[in-house]
Amino acid sequence: MRVVPRELQTPVPCEGREFFIFTAKTRRARRKKGRSLSGLCAFAVKKGVGMIDQLNQFEKDALAKLAALHDAASLRAWKSETFGKQTVLSTALTELGKLPKEERPLVGKRTNEIKRALEAAYDEKEGALRAAELDVSLRADALDVTLPGRPLRRGRLHIATQTLRQICAIWADMGFQVYRSREIESDEYNFELLNIPKHHPAREMQDTFHTTLPDVILRTHTSPGQIHAMREFYPNPIRVVLPGMVYRYEQITARSEIQFNQIEGLAVGKGIRMTDLKGTLTDFARRMFGTTVRTRFRADHFPFTEPSAEMDVECFVCGGKGCSVCKRSGWLEILGCGMVHPIVLQNGGYDPRVYSGFAFGMGPERIAMLKYKIEDIRYFWANDLRFLEQF
Ligand code: PHE
Repeated sequence: MRVVPRELQTPVPCEGREFFIFTAKTRRARRKKGRSLSGLCAFAVKKGVGMIDQLNQFEKDALAKLAALHDAASLRAWKSETFGKQTVLSTALTELGKLPKEERPLVGKRTNEIKRALEAAYDEKEGALRAAELDVSLRADALDVTLPGRPLRRGRLHIATQTLRQICAIWADMGFQVYRSREIESDEYNFELLNIPKHHPAREMQDTFHTTLPDVILRTHTSPGQIHAMREFYPNPIRVVLPGMVYRYEQITARSEIQFNQIEGLAVGKGIRMTDLKGTLTDFARRMFGTTVRTRFRADHFPFTEPSAEMDVECFVCGGKGCSVCKRSGWLEILGCGMVHPIVLQNGGYDPRVYSGFAFGMGPERIAMLKYKIEDIRYFWANDLRFLEQF
């Protein structure tokens, strides 16, 4: 003996028993007639069970269950349970032909009525559950649009970048194009082609970061860009500025860092003279520090320029009277410069008998330090917001 599956466990009065039971007899009958499980109900029906009563009971139970459930998952379960293939609701119609003739229209009508009623009840319940769910989620994720927004902190450019851009903009106004050059250089470009052979004492001043590749180094200044620019632009005249980071293997102190920016300038053409260098750089100083600023040039030495000079501007902090920023001298050292050395011109592809040029190099961090009285160059890369936020 086997008890009927759960779908059929609605009490089905059958042959005087309270539950429909699979007996050897029913199983035999089922096998003989090739009946599906659902057919068993009809089989029971045929045995004289009041079909209408069964249907009414089914409806009553289903509606009661529906009224008691409160979530979508139970509703889904209810739906498949109620409209599934093995319920009296489904079998009543398929097995209609097996009923006595006079019962057929009544059972058919009642079945359809119940079906429609249950479907309507289902739709209504589904709508109600959905509305309740929405209500819960609206309550849970309530958004108060009247709350004031949190202000976004505005970012800004680093002081070194600001200064770098300001300087580039001035040179752009004066007809100099920005030329980007690589930060990783060969020893040849960084030194040799700039007239700094191996064992030259000038190398001592720019100790270098080496890579694991022989003779591949981090550039110690932006001057190797001069060679790149000349080799690219030959035989045209050149007016470029080359901004970017440079690296030196140094002890880090208040005055020296292992990385900082430089802006190189290069002008190459026919008939360019020292007076062009002085006039152009003085014009730059006036645009950068004010139209009344005075400049002076002091002789200096760089292997890649001849003659070479340092340019000073009158101290813009004290106006030349002497203060702690200019160390009482009244002058601030701003940049190195000079006429491009004939060997360097030649290395760049330009015949020094036909072409000449000038070059200069300055450090924007140093200029910013002078301008804002920053006492320690280490602040620039220490990433301390208290410092950076001031600019
Ligand atoms: N490259 C030099 C330095 O790093 C600066 C410089 C550039 C001087 C161009 C003269 C001409 O100190």
